[in-house]
Amino acid sequence: MSNEALENLLHENRVFPPSPEFAAQANATASLYDEAASDRLGFWAEQARYLSWATDFEQVLDWSDAPFAKWFIGGTLNVAYNCVDRHVENGFGNQIAIRFEGEPGDRRDITYSELKDEVSKAANALTELGVTAGDRVAIYMPMIPEAIVAMLACARIGAAHSVVFAGFSSEALRSRIDDAQAVLVITADGQNRRGSAMPLKPAVDEAVAQTPSVRNVLVVRRTGSDVEWTDKDVWWHDLVESQSAEHIPEAFDAEHPLFILYTSGTTGKPKGILHTSGGYLTQAAYTHRNVFDLKPDEDVYWCTADIGWVTGHSYIVYGPLANRATQVVYEGTPDTPNKDRWWDIVERHGVTLFYTAPTAIRTFMKWGDELPKSHDLSSLRLLGSVGEPINPEAWMWYREVIGGGRCPIVDTWWQTETGAIMISPLPGVTACKPGSAMGALPGIGMAVVDDEAQPVGNGGGGYLVLTEPWPSMLRGIWGDPERFQETYWSRFSGMYFAGDGAKLDEDGAIWLLGRVDDVMNVSGHRISTTEVESALVSHDAVAEAAVVGAADETTGQGIVAFVILRGGVPEETAKGEQLVKDLRNHVGAEIGPIAKPRQIMVVPELPKTRSGKIMRRLLRDVAEHRDMGDVTTLADPTVMNLIATGLDSGSDDD
Ligand code: WT7
Repeated sequence: MSNEALENLLHENRVFPPSPEFAAQANATASLYDEAASDRLGFWAEQARYLSWATDFEQVLDWSDAPFAKWFIGGTLNVAYNCVDRHVENGFGNQIAIRFEGEPGDRRDITYSELKDEVSKAANALTELGVTAGDRVAIYMPMIPEAIVAMLACARIGAAHSVVFAGFSSEALRSRIDDAQAVLVITADGQNRRGSAMPLKPAVDEAVAQTPSVRNVLVVRRTGSDVEWTDKDVWWHDLVESQSAEHIPEAFDAEHPLFILYTSGTTGKPKGILHTSGGYLTQAAYTHRNVFDLKPDEDVYWCTADIGWVTGHSYIVYGPLANRATQVVYEGTPDTPNKDRWWDIVERHGVTLFYTAPTAIRTFMKWGDELPKSHDLSSLRLLGSVGEPINPEAWMWYREVIGGGRCPIVDTWWQTETGAIMISPLPGVTACKPGSAMGALPGIGMAVVDDEAQPVGNGGGGYLVLTEPWPSMLRGIWGDPERFQETYWSRFSGMYFAGDGAKLDEDGAIWLLGRVDDVMNVSGHRISTTEVESALVSHDAVAEAAVVGAADETTGQGIVAFVILRGGVPEETAKGEQLVKDLRNHVGAEIGPIAKPRQIMVVPELPKTRSGKIMRRLLRDVAEHRDMGDVTTLADPTVMNLIATGLDSGSDDD
C-alpha cells in the first residue's frame, strides 16, 4: 500500500527553452517573478495601473472577510471604456479590433472606432429597454461580432451578463435565466454550423415562456431563417441600429458585478460563478499581455474558444480588447467546408498568436499531418493550450506540425472560477517540458499538498491548491454563499481547493493530473487517468485516449482504456489483438506494470461535453456494464451507441 496522495509515475526528460530571439523581444522577463515575490500586493497594484481608472483605488486587497475578497478598494472604472474607448482616444481608432469570418465565408473587419459606436448604440438600446446597472442579461448567441458587442454593452451600463453557450438546450438556458433572474435575453435567429443554419430562437422561446423575469428578447438576424415572434421580441437591427452612437460610460466600483458564468460541471446543479470588474480585468489583461506576449501593433491573435466558455470571456473579449489586440473571430466548426478550415484561416489572416484546446489538437492529429502541412503557417510565433492536460505527444505534435518547431507553447492552467490564467510558462523565460504547465505565474500562490494539507516535495503528487487570493478570483456562487465556502474553501483550511490532482517533478515543474474525482485506485495505488492516457497517446497508433477505473474484485479498481486510433492505421491492425497487447505493454514500459490497462477498447469517438471534456462517468458505466445515465449534456449523444457496439472488440487478455 502506498500512502502518497497520488502516485508520480510518468517521466519526461525533453526540455525546450525559448529561442534567444523570442526571449530578447518578450514582454515578460524573469524580473517579474522577483518583483511579485518581494511585494505581491505592490506588484498587483502595478498591473492594475495598465487600466484606466476613473477614481484611483486606495487599498489593493481586503481579505478580512475571507474567503470573500475585495480588490482595488475605492477604485472605480468602466470595463467597456477600458476595452474600447480609451484605444480610440489614444489614436488607435482605425486599428482593426475584430476580423470576423463567418462559417459560410462572409467577412467583416471592425475597427476600434466602429466597435465603440456599436457598443455605444447597444448600450443605449439596453437602456431604452429599461435595463439598468445591477440587472442580469442572458446572452445566447453564436460566435458573431454582436455577441461581443452585447457583452461589452452590458459591461458599459453595469448590467451583469450571463452568457449561455448556444449549443446548450432550452432547459439549460431556462434554469440559468431563472437562477440569475435575467430581465433580458439577447439571441439570434440561428447560427451556421457545419454548412447549415441551425435555429436558436425556438430554444429561447421555450425558455422564456417559463421565465417571467424576462421582459424582452433582443434578436440579431444572422441566418435569415423564419422565426416565431412574440410581443416580447425586438429585432436588433430595428432597435440598436437607430440609436445614437454617443454614450457616456459611467464608472462603477471595482467590485461591481461584471458577469455570471455557469460552470460546465459534469455532475450536480450548475454553479453561477460570479466575477467582478477591476480585479478581473486587471488579471485578464496582465496574463494576456505576458503569457501570449501580445504586441498590439504587430500581432494577429486568435483564440478558437466560444464566448460561451470562460476562455471566450477572458481571452476573446476582456483580456485582448483591454490590451488593444487585433483578433480573428470565427463563427463555425473546424471541418467546414473542409478539415483544413482553421489552417486556411491562420494562413489568410497571418495569425501570429494561436490559443486552442488539447481536444482540438488531438482531433487534428487524428485527421493527419497533411492538412496543416498544405498551408503556410509560418506567421505563427506562439501557441497556447487550455482546458485539460495536454499529453506530451500532443504537445510535441503541436510544436512540430503547427508551430514548425519554432514557437513556444504555453500550457495554461486555470478555471472558470479563477477567471484568468494562474499556472503557465512565461514564453520568453521558461524552458518548457512537453505536457507540463510548469509553474505559477508571478503574483500567484500555488502549492501541491497531501491529505493533511502539507506541501509535497519535488517528486511528490497530491492536490492542487491556491494559497493566496488573486485579483480575478470568483467572488462567490450566485445566490449560494454556503456552497461557495463548502466547495472551494472547506477541504483545506485557508486555501482554495481547485479539485485537480497534480504532481511536482524533480525540478519542481507542475504536472496536472485531472480532476481528483477521476483518480483510480488500483491495488491501493492512486493512479491518475491523465498519466495512463498520456502513455497511450505516446504510442504511434493512438490519437486520443480516455481511461477510467472500473470496479474490480481483485484490485479494487481496474484500468479500462478507450482509444481512438490515428488516421492511417490500417484496418487489420486496428481490429487485431496484437495492437491491444502492444498498447498494454507500451503503458507497462512507459509507466510500470501497475498501470497496464485491464481492458483496452478501440472506439471511433469519445463522449465529450460541449467544452471538450471527456465524460468519464459514462465510460465507467460502459466499463462496468451498467445502463447509461443522463447523456443529455454530451456534445454528440450518439457516440455512446458507437462505443457500446464497439465493446465486443475489446480484449481481456492476461
Ligand atoms: C478545469 C477547469 C480554463 C478555461 C477552460 C476550462 C482543467 C484547464 C488545464 C490545463 C490541465 C486543465 C482542470 C480545471 N484544465 N486547463 N492547462 N492543464 N488541466 O475551464 O471548464 O472551468 O475547467 O479544466 O481540470 O480544473 P473550466
